[in-house]
Amino acid sequence: MSDVMIAVQHVFKSVTDSTGSLTILRDIDFTLNKGETAAIVGASGSGKSTLLSIVAGLDTPSQGTVHIDGVDLFALSEDQRAALRSQKVGFVFQSFQLLGNLTALENVMLPLELAGQRDARATATQMLQRVGLGERLSSYPKVLSGGEQQRVALARAFVVRPAVLLADEPTGSLDFATGAKIMELMFELNREQGTTLVLVTHDRAIAQRCERRITIEAGQVAAERVEA
Ligand SMILES: Nc1ncnc2c1ncn2[C@@H]1O[C@H](COP(=O)(O)OP(=O)(O)OP(=O)(O)O)[C@@H](O)[C@H]1O
Ligand SMILES: [Mg+2]
Repeated sequence: MSDVMIAVQHVFKSVTDSTGSLTILRDIDFTLNKGETAAIVGASGSGKSTLLSIVAGLDTPSQGTVHIDGVDLFALSEDQRAALRSQKVGFVFQSFQLLGNLTALENVMLPLELAGQRDARATATQMLQRVGLGERLSSYPKVLSGGEQQRVALARAFVVRPAVLLADEPTGSLDFATGAKIMELMFELNREQGTTLVLVTHDRAIAQRCERRITIEAGQVAAERVEA
């Protein structure tokens, strides 16, 4: 068994719209081992969210491959890819993407139910308590603050204890203290479960806590620093 959890090889992404063709990612290459923590950093518009969506199999590259735990993501059918994601990958969107017609609790129960887990209600309740939302279980997303929605999105991603957790600015809408608590939770999951953690962040302190920093500049990996 290989120790590599995520392998991104020669990934390019171009999009075409009415104004022409735009290359968002050019030849991105990196691998992350099981249990490793990495921060993806770079200026706004450099391609971080696009890269994270491709690693999650939510978006497709124009060229190149992504392997998750040895499986070639884009050699799979869409259904197979969705199945692999539900088994192994937790994703926190920059824009949360909660389901508006479900309560906070129902949003967090959903991935457990999709995975056929018993005790979805109790497990989801516990996870919402851990992110400090034990009192808001039956609230709908539209009445929650931005930071509260972000914490529901985090609880939803954590709750299945995925092998890989991908989070796009997971503390972007949180105050300092709440953000720090959420980061503790993520690193705890990393330690307890050996979760491979990939965070997009503008927060230097968070980036410093990760074992690896991958800097994206205009769609390319600019520098990679490995520290002991
Ligand atoms: N579907 C699309 N069509 C056209 N352009 C796109 C599309 N998706 C992304 N882009 C462009 O690609 C670039 C990279 O976008 P991306 O969202 O990956 O940046 P980012 O690094 O996450 O930025 P931020 O830090 O602001 O979140 C941006 O210039 C964006 O406008
Ligand atoms: Mg982004």
